[in-house]
Amino acid sequence: MHVMITGAGKAVGLGFNLVLRYLEAGDTVAATIRKPCAELDALKAQYGERLTILTMDISSTASVQAAADVLSGTFDHLDLLINNAVSVSPDCDKGFFEADLDLIARTVDVTAVGAMRVIKAFYPLLQRSSMTALIMNISSEAGSISRCYRTNLLDYGMAKAALNMATMNLYNTFKEERKVNIFCVHPGWIRTDGRPDNPAPLSSYEAAGILRLLFEQKRDDFDGHRFITNLNEDYPF
Ligand SMILES: NC(=O)c1ccc[n+]([C@@H]2O[C@H](COP(=O)([O-])OP(=O)(O)OC[C@H]3O[C@@H](n4cnc5c(N)ncnc54)[C@H](OP(=O)(O)O)[C@@H]3O)[C@@H](O)[C@H]2O)c1
Repeated sequence: MHVMITGAGKAVGLGFNLVLRYLEAGDTVAATIRKPCAELDALKAQYGERLTILTMDISSTASVQAAADVLSGTFDHLDLLINNAVSVSPDCDKGFFEADLDLIARTVDVTAVGAMRVIKAFYPLLQRSSMTALIMNISSEAGSISRCYRTNLLDYGMAKAALNMATMNLYNTFKEERKVNIFCVHPGWIRTDGRPDNPAPLSSYEAAGILRLLFEQKRDDFDGHRFITNLNEDYPF
């Protein structure tokens, strides 16, 4: 299987660990980064041609298209695209009255519009999959409008809610053809900062293993709810 994962340049993060899980499973992987990552270079040395490292800034349509052009020279198709990259503002933890609201647009642009840029540019490769091509947008329970209880994470919550809306809209766009399927997924509570004192129950490596198995269960599910959790539960938008 040919897989692409965005935002893979942080060894303790989810993206890098998804790359590792798919490589360990025997798949061919494109990992996108913004800046060099020594741990990813080590995987390249280990896995050789099965790993392609691509530089791509998802806030730039030109950068995303350039990455798609490069990958098209190596990959003749893509079976799975995982939009994992995310950006948060320095005011993420502040409330409405304290946060600089002008920082919100950038978070939404990278996290939600960025995923859409990637889908648009790599769609031709997805269409050439011999399977139902699958797009998994890594969302968050923080993007659920109906379950919102917070007064912080304004930019992050708005960005993930926008990503969820994009998922539903693109599902409607793709569903007639039944060639490309799409979901948004809350990946669980994960120690993506790599800190042992982080109370989250899952390491990034554990979370990536759970998600890899889940994704293959969903590939041909065109009828189920579009927002799911890592435990394959439906989550309310
Ligand atoms: N941790 C949790 O419990 C939890 C819960 C729910 C959802 N999630 C989601 O899980 C995913 C992974 O979390 P994480 O903490 O591992 O993510 P992260 O490290 O904060 O971000 C992942 C990557 O996104 C990249 N990125 C940022 N801006 C970018 C841009 N403009 N273009 C391309 N890449 C860009 C970063 O690249 P650089 O390294 O270059 O900065 C980073 O390596 C995220 O989508 C997050 O929202 C996590």
